Amino acid sequence: MRILHYSDPHFDLSLRTIPLRKWFGKRAIGALNLLGGRGRYFDDADEKIKALTRFKESHEVDLVLCTGDYTALGLTAELENAAELIAPLAQPPERYITVPGNHDVYSTDVILGDHFQEFFGQYMHTDWPQYSVEGEWPFVRLFGDYLAVIGVNSAKPNPLPWRSDGHIPPAQLGALERILADHRLRGRWIFVMTHYAARLADGRPDTPHHGLRNADDFLRVCRRIEKGAILNGHIHRCYITDLTPEGLSIDLYCAGSVSMEGRECFWLFDVEPESMRVRRGVYDKEEFRLLECDER
Ligand SMILES: [Fe+2]
Ligand SMILES: [Fe+2]
Repeated sequence: MRILHYSDPHFDLSLRTIPLRKWFGKRAIGALNLLGGRGRYFDDADEKIKALTRFKESHEVDLVLCTGDYTALGLTAELENAAELIAPLAQPPERYITVPGNHDVYSTDVILGDHFQEFFGQYMHTDWPQYSVEGEWPFVRLFGDYLAVIGVNSAKPNPLPWRSDGHIPPAQLGALERILADHRLRGRWIFVMTHYAARLADGRPDTPHHGLRNADDFLRVCRRIEKGAILNGHIHRCYITDLTPEGLSIDLYCAGSVSMEGRECFWLFDVEPESMRVRRGVYDKEEFRLLECDER
C-alpha cells in the first residue's frame, strides 16, 4: 500500500466573498491575521493541491490521508470551496480519509451546523461502528489484511482568539483503547490520525495554548501499537519525532502544510506486510518530488 499523508492546505477564499455580517469574534481576528500577511503564505494553495493531485496520479498512490485545516476561518463557503478543490485528489472517495483541523471548526456556529461533516463526511466513515462514541468517532478503516487507519477528532472551537489548543474527548480515548485491544488488529500496521501534534519535533509537548492538551493520555493509549505511525498536522513544518522515550514503538509524523510558501511538504509511506519505507515530498518548480528519508 502506498499512502500519502498531507495536511493544512488552508485554502483561502477572497475576503470580498466573506459576508461582513459574519465578521465577529474570532473570525474578525482570523481575518485580520490574514490581512496582516498570514494569508499570503497560502495564496497558491489551489495550485499546490493540483500539483499534489498530479503527483498522486503519477505515483500510484493507493490511499490519501489529510489531517485537517482546509480553511482559514471555517466559513461554510470556505468548506464548500475546499471540498471542491480536493475532490480530484479524493478519487475514489473510499481511498481518501480525513479529520478536521481547528480552522475547520473555527466558531461555534460551524460546530452547531456540523458543516465539516456536511462537506467532508464522505471521507470519515468507519468499518467498526460498534466502537463509535461521538458520531463516527473514532473511526476505523481496514485495508487488505495488514493495514488499519484510525481517525480521532482533536479539533474543537476556541472561543478565546489567542488560543488554538486541541483536546481529544475522554470518551474517544476510551474507545481508541478498546479498538487497539481488538484482536482483529493484531499484526496490522496501525496509522492513527488526528489534527493536533502530541509532541513537537524535539520530543517536547507543544504549549498549552497551541497544543494537544491531553497529549500524554493519547500517547499512553497509543503505547499498545506495535507497528505503524501517529499522523498529525497543525504545526506547519514536516518532522518526525521518535516516541521511544515515551514508551512507544512507533514514531510521530507531522505533515506540516502542503501549501505554505517555502515549507510545502507531505509524507509518503510504502507499507508492505513486514516493512515500511517513508519518504518526504517537497515542492520544487511547481511540482512535488520525493526526498529519500527513512527506511525501516
Ligand atoms: Fe494549520
Ligand atoms: Fe491547526
